[in-house]
Amino acid sequence: MTIPYSTGSHTAGPFGAGLTSAAVTPPSGASRPRLTFVGTGYLGATYAICFAELGYEVLGVDVDPEKIAALGGGDVPFHEPGLDELLRSNLAAGRLRFSTSFDEAAEFGDVHFICVGTPQRGDGMGADLSYVEAAVTGLASRLTRRALIVGKSTVPVGSAEWVQQLVDKHAAPELGVEVAWSPEFLQEGHAVEDVLRPNRLVVAAKSPWAASLLYAAHKGVFDLATTEEREVPVVVCDFATAELVKVAANAFLATKISFINAMSEVCEAAGADVTLLAKALGYDPRIGQRYLQAGVGFGGGCLPKDIRAFQARAQELGVGEALRFLHEVDLINTRRRTRVLKLAAQLLDRRYGPAGPDLSACRVAVLGATFKPNSDDVRDAPSLAVAALLHKAGADVHVYDPQGTENARAALPDVVYESSLAAAVADADLVCVLTEWAEFRNADPVALGHIAAAKRVIDGRNCLDPTQWTAAGWEYYGMGRA
Ligand code: UGA
Repeated sequence: MTIPYSTGSHTAGPFGAGLTSAAVTPPSGASRPRLTFVGTGYLGATYAICFAELGYEVLGVDVDPEKIAALGGGDVPFHEPGLDELLRSNLAAGRLRFSTSFDEAAEFGDVHFICVGTPQRGDGMGADLSYVEAAVTGLASRLTRRALIVGKSTVPVGSAEWVQQLVDKHAAPELGVEVAWSPEFLQEGHAVEDVLRPNRLVVAAKSPWAASLLYAAHKGVFDLATTEEREVPVVVCDFATAELVKVAANAFLATKISFINAMSEVCEAAGADVTLLAKALGYDPRIGQRYLQAGVGFGGGCLPKDIRAFQARAQELGVGEALRFLHEVDLINTRRRTRVLKLAAQLLDRRYGPAGPDLSACRVAVLGATFKPNSDDVRDAPSLAVAALLHKAGADVHVYDPQGTENARAALPDVVYESSLAAAVADADLVCVLTEWAEFRNADPVALGHIAAAKRVIDGRNCLDPTQWTAAGWEYYGMGRA
């Protein structure tokens, strides 16, 4: 389904609070702004494809020729439900192209979204902004007409002003190139929905022209909402606030998860059940049920590195104390991983000494390698970190994941990867369920009981039905459950 883009005159619309302006004509002269997404990783590729679906002419740009060749050939280089179909249909419709050329991007685009990664620096907790710098300077120096450069990457507060300075330095001043900021909030596994139907848009633009062009670049999102009788809330703010919204949101989510995992530790000590505790807490609408799933904790390419970069930036700003609690959030999170190792030692009747347990001659099935289900992303995955701990303790670790095996093997080559759930569980002395894939939730404990060497299971995501598993003769251990 493609949303027809209405070409009637428009103003800065909801982006223009305090910035009212008349309609702008895109600098390329096209009737609607032509969009580029610089960086075609998870974020940029998803945005490029979805904005083509919304009816825009889109160019995805990346320095990695393999990624560009895959996308141009109709293959999404990562697992995201629904994205392959949209990629192929929009390539076929001619609205979507991919390129490694900044010259082509500069020639084509009116609005350039910077979507490159900002990983944790090798030498500390801060964010590595080298990809942002390379993308902005590469593009700005090649522009030959006016354009808007919009930051989407997650950055430390203050970066947008620095990007503006880079643009001022590298783009010819007479062109009047401007910078705006609009953070993204997409969640892997729900990314298509999150881009087409965002629960909010946060935008920061410094001039009526920039606000107006940015609105035109999002009009497809509003048109879709109108046809579905929905509203898309918009928060118009300054650069610093826009940058902070993103990291504050991730910090809040991480804190909520670590809160329930801290409760999990208390429940384990007190003989209570954290799943029932979370359920009861979540009925209070001020608290809510979501992000109260206790287990092995959060991972992925965002939450862990974002809370660290946020602390590093707060320290630089002289307000490190304000975010000291995030250090605790991080510690609670990593403690959940060692908790699984301790439980494994306990269940396998091995002593947990100062150097950890000796799990030699124990075969352990690790179910799940990705940081969450419906993704093939293994970055900072708690499941893979636990697999590494078990392996280091001497266990014979057999990992199975429905989508993440290839990435997991590259990140942790020392363990055995199996091609099916049954192959992983066969002859296992212990089964650890560490990512809540539906395949594991729906597995038959009776059938698995016939092939395992011993019926012991650690449910690291509290995603199995304990009654069903214990009825099938399994010794069941959840996280934070009596
Ligand atoms: C996160 C945010 O949710 C997005 O809003 C944000 O845009 C994105 O980071 C980003 O910065 O780009 P994502 O990394 O896809 O999205 O992951 P989440 O779905 O938030 O899950 C993060 C981790 O928390 C996973 O390992 C998940 O298993 C864990 N989690 C989540 C829990 O342990 N318990 C919960 O209750 C919820």
